[in-house]
Amino acid sequence: MTKILKNYLIKTPKHIGFILDGNGRWAKKRGLSRSLGHKAGVEAVRKTVKALIKYKIPYASMFAFSTENWKRSKEEVNCIFDLIRNLLKEERGSFINQKIKLVISGDISSLPKDLVESINEVLNIDIKDPKLTLNICLNYGGRADIARAVNKLIAQGKRSINEDDITNNLYSAGIPDLDFVIRTSGEQRISNFMIYQIAYAELYFPKIYWPEFNEKKLKKALKVFAKRNRRYGGY
Ligand code: IPE
Ligand code: IPE
Ligand code: MG
Repeated sequence: MTKILKNYLIKTPKHIGFILDGNGRWAKKRGLSRSLGHKAGVEAVRKTVKALIKYKIPYASMFAFSTENWKRSKEEVNCIFDLIRNLLKEERGSFINQKIKLVISGDISSLPKDLVESINEVLNIDIKDPKLTLNICLNYGGRADIARAVNKLIAQGKRSINEDDITNNLYSAGIPDLDFVIRTSGEQRISNFMIYQIAYAELYFPKIYWPEFNEKKLKKALKVFAKRNRRYGGY
């Protein structure tokens, strides 16, 4: 007997971008500190990564810390970095077992040394035929990404550049353009997230805070995506 696959499992995005927003408001609503909001946000990341593998999504990008987020208090910034460091340490084994390949987009040179060490520990794992390529955007800005790509091309001696040259020199080189971008929290803006790669992405703004995101919410998002009609300027 042939199994009829549901539409949302056939027409799936290859690359989903997540703008993880609303940790602070989620916490405030519950009378908790912003730090606890970020802690809950990390749990949502774990659940989402498992669900992405279950639904066979090959590429995902997650916006974890922007070049503008340094405007926040030192305490909050350090809390976010500590949480990411712990997540990478705790999940190192799952990156191997689940065949997840980590990519980091952003300037990590100004991040705390212990965080850079845990990042490198995971980046150094050699994953063959990854099930999921997980691109974490950390100290990342879309404009800075483009400027860096152009500077790399100048350093190569290029005098004229085309669109592919830029694509191939972004942090996300080798990863296809975004098909679908999900921003939680109700805000309907891009906030400097992968602005070059987003050109023809479908956008979705569920009215939930990031810590509420899970497999069920991803399934709902995939159903929304399956109903979208992408035309790329044609008919
Ligand atoms: C998490 O949500 C995203 C990060 C910048 C780490 P926020 O911390 O922006 O939460 P809100 O927007 O204040 O609710
Ligand atoms: C975007 O969220 C950046 C990340 C999710 C890391 P922000 O909360 O920083 O964005 P704005 O300030 O609402 O635009
Ligand atoms: Mg926010």
